[in-house]
Amino acid sequence: MRDPALYTDPDRFKHPQNRSPPRHMVFGGGAHRCLGEVLARAELEEGLAALVERLPKLQLLGEPLRVFGHAGIRRVSP
Ligand code: HEM
Repeated sequence: MRDPALYTDPDRFKHPQNRSPPRHMVFGGGAHRCLGEVLARAELEEGLAALVERLPKLQLLGEPLRVFGHAGIRRVSP
């Protein structure tokens, strides 16, 4: 998510621009870019807003999980 054609100063984290970039690569690209992107984004916004509203003290316990592996076969550390 650091394409200089899309983001000014791409190596610097800027909230909220880099939080929800308009062309996030998770939804693929080109002719087969996800058709459900707008719905998925709306559902995530609503779901996450409800979560933090109900559990305002929600926080990570211990170290964050580490994602490892490669495309298609990814795991998180136990
Ligand atoms: C966070 C949720 C989602 C993610 C990360 C996601 C990701 C993706 C990705 C990466 C592709 C491209 C696959 C490829 O290049 O072959 C794709 C395609 C597609 N997605 Fe999603 N998707 C999500 C949610 C949804 C939802 C909610 C719907 C429908 C209600 C949906 C419908 C589709 C369809 C129909 C395609 C095929 C588009 C085509 O081949 O032209 N997706 N999605």
